[in-house]
Amino acid sequence: MKLSEERRKELKITVDYTNMTDKYLGAKGYSEKALNAHARRAKAAHAYIHANRGRDDLFLGWTELPYNQTEIVEDILTTAKLIRKKFDAFVVLGIGGSALGPSMAFNALCHLHYNDLPKSKRKGPKFYVEDNVDPVRMKELLDVIDVTNTCFNVISKSGATSETMSQYLVIADLLKKAGVNIRENVIFTTDAKRGNLVKISKELGGVKSYVLGDGVGGRFSELSPVGLLPAAVVGIDIKALLKGAAAMDKRCKSSDFHKNPALLCAVLQYAAMADGKNIGVMMPYSDNLRAVADWYAQLWAESLGKNVTLDGKPCNVGQTPVKALGVTDQHSQIQLYTEGPFDKVVTFLAVDRYKETSPIPRGCESIPDVAFLGGHTMEQLIQAEMFATAYALTKAGRLNYTIRLPEVNEYTLGQLLFLFEMQTAYAGAMLNVDPFNQPGVEAGKKATFALLGKPGYELQRHDLENAAPDPDYIV
Ligand code: PA5
Repeated sequence: MKLSEERRKELKITVDYTNMTDKYLGAKGYSEKALNAHARRAKAAHAYIHANRGRDDLFLGWTELPYNQTEIVEDILTTAKLIRKKFDAFVVLGIGGSALGPSMAFNALCHLHYNDLPKSKRKGPKFYVEDNVDPVRMKELLDVIDVTNTCFNVISKSGATSETMSQYLVIADLLKKAGVNIRENVIFTTDAKRGNLVKISKELGGVKSYVLGDGVGGRFSELSPVGLLPAAVVGIDIKALLKGAAAMDKRCKSSDFHKNPALLCAVLQYAAMADGKNIGVMMPYSDNLRAVADWYAQLWAESLGKNVTLDGKPCNVGQTPVKALGVTDQHSQIQLYTEGPFDKVVTFLAVDRYKETSPIPRGCESIPDVAFLGGHTMEQLIQAEMFATAYALTKAGRLNYTIRLPEVNEYTLGQLLFLFEMQTAYAGAMLNVDPFNQPGVEAGKKATFALLGKPGYELQRHDLENAAPDPDYIV
């Protein structure tokens, strides 16, 4: 995607926080003075993140991904071309940060029924992201793919995640039984030196592998080979994705939150959290952006949900992300958002120009309740419904703001995801917690190791056995 300066301007995403202000929300909204009260903290967060950009030891390597991957991108494009020629299906085996990004980009930028399209209408092989160990899902995936014709991208930084590695064992066994050399059908995306996939690769005589850099944590990895290879395989323009991220990064240079969209969102959310709004609803009005809400939920929850500050003091911070889809969830959740507790802030993701407009034909002329729809388009309808929902929430004194994408394409998605990554990093610094660790996730991983008999976890296993359900409390 080649973009003129004019087109770049046209594709600039914006943040509209009208409905967060006291001017429109009355006493339930924030005055400029109230928001400015957080400006010093926001500036300090901004200074910290930008002074330490790219530092692997602080897990800030992801900030440089839009710029430092020229060679890797070319390699990925070549590999993706080979994959498209050779395989009928491409399966990502990964979980959490190793899966949500690839799913998001696929959902956003490919046909919504991509796998159902005939081969001639798809830009690549059928595409699956298997981020669970539900035994039924595993079995039923195998019902629809032929492992010998499938490329498996095993994505795991540690190579020690039970879910991903169990899937790998299943697939490796099937490939072996089918007489296929495993290394022909797998690609690893993992740590450069450490981790089990590095060892497995050596044992197999060298598997094609991509590196997930030291300073790039799972949930900040979508712009690394974790996200770029799967995206390239299904024909997504990964260079445009990176360009979009770079364009947002440029707008994040300012330490004035009125000029920096990510810092503005961090300030809005910080102000809401300080005010007891412990739930953050992410509500895209676009099926193509549905998985953005899933990806964002992990980014926000895993990064900010912490029980210790950077200076070692106990705390319990974070905001619970809730995923909703416009207009679908207007008919399930909006009642609660409009009239329930004042504990939420809603972020709308709006689209100005959808890929399709889908005209609504005239008809049922004798029934005015239906006839008024004719002559409009579904694009007009979904946009009207979003505007109406934001209006109703505002009338009810409910905090909401809108991130507006002129279109959904690689360049705007790149901007959006970099905005959210920066917003999260800033918010972590404002809350004085480490947004790049996840001790709470690690605890669950370790308990699973113990339950399934991994050597070295015997003591914990004993503990877990004593934690069995108490029959006195089972009805
Ligand atoms: O964001 C994170 O760090 C996590 O969600 C990890 O991505 C997830 O736990 C998978 O870990 P790994 O890549 O080591 O398999």
